[in-house]
Amino acid sequence: MQEVEWIWMDGRLVPWKEAKVHVLTHALHYGTAVFEGIRCYKTERGPAVFRLVDHMKRFFDSAKICAIKIPYSLEELVEAVKETIRANKLEECYIRPLAYVGYGEMGLYSLGNPVGVAIAVWPWGAYLGEEGLVKGIRCMVSSWRKLHSQFVPPQAKASANYLNAVLAKLEALSMGYEEAILLNLDGYVSEGSGENIFMVKDGVIYTPPPEACMLMGITRDSVIKLARNMGYTVVERNILREELYIADEVFLTGTAAEVTPVREIDGRVIGEGRRGPITEAIQKKFFDIVHGREEAYYHWLDFV
Ligand SMILES: Cc1ncc(COP(=O)(O)O)c(C=O)c1O
Repeated sequence: MQEVEWIWMDGRLVPWKEAKVHVLTHALHYGTAVFEGIRCYKTERGPAVFRLVDHMKRFFDSAKICAIKIPYSLEELVEAVKETIRANKLEECYIRPLAYVGYGEMGLYSLGNPVGVAIAVWPWGAYLGEEGLVKGIRCMVSSWRKLHSQFVPPQAKASANYLNAVLAKLEALSMGYEEAILLNLDGYVSEGSGENIFMVKDGVIYTPPPEACMLMGITRDSVIKLARNMGYTVVERNILREELYIADEVFLTGTAAEVTPVREIDGRVIGEGRRGPITEAIQKKFFDIVHGREEAYYHWLDFV
């Protein structure tokens, strides 16, 4: 990763190399942490963070679900994000807020332990590759199932949940694919290892509903809204694995992955085997919005 100068840690900016924790930090052992992934884009009016307040609301919601008390207000952390970007003089970056149960008791009951908060920023290009954005990527349906809300809460962006995602990603890459798609315990399509999923069939856009046990992505929400504004019909309903195989288009959405077309799943070519026209139109609109070229969507941008 590309290092920058400063990381915000517990209320102050510390040099990148000094942003450390004790080895007996509770979260390191049990995954008792929540995080966010946010992007800041270059615009003509300077750097702008995409849906910063919505990401921070999800950060606090994740913490609440996991009974982690963040010792700052939402407003303080929104300001801290902007301060960290300014301090590092970045025009574009990925932003990673993290709240974690710190050093104290080592047992599972950790409500007395301090909660640490950090915000790191760094330059990060296309998560699934520049070529993937244009040509589409190859995916496999993972042998791992998406974790079910009866075991852990998938709607919390909790560190512990991500072992599931890491295992699926490792498997996909070891099999020569670029990304994993996970089914839930009911056998329906849930999401990618770090992205939500959409498919297009006969001009209609489909995406799994909240009960499919995925993270409620902010890019997913943005795409649903902008696609409807563009006149497309978007339907939230359960999707079967084989429906993906015979879809006209499939694409993934996420802060890191942005809008990435899928051209192959499990050896089946999706549609024409390249980025489809509806995916391309949505992708273009998305990039216009995040780069500040669409005034109607300025309310989604937080200028730094
Ligand atoms: C498991 C998972 N699903 C979906 C997403 C997409 O969410 P968002 O669009 O808010 O980044 C992410 C990335 O944050 C993720 O990690």
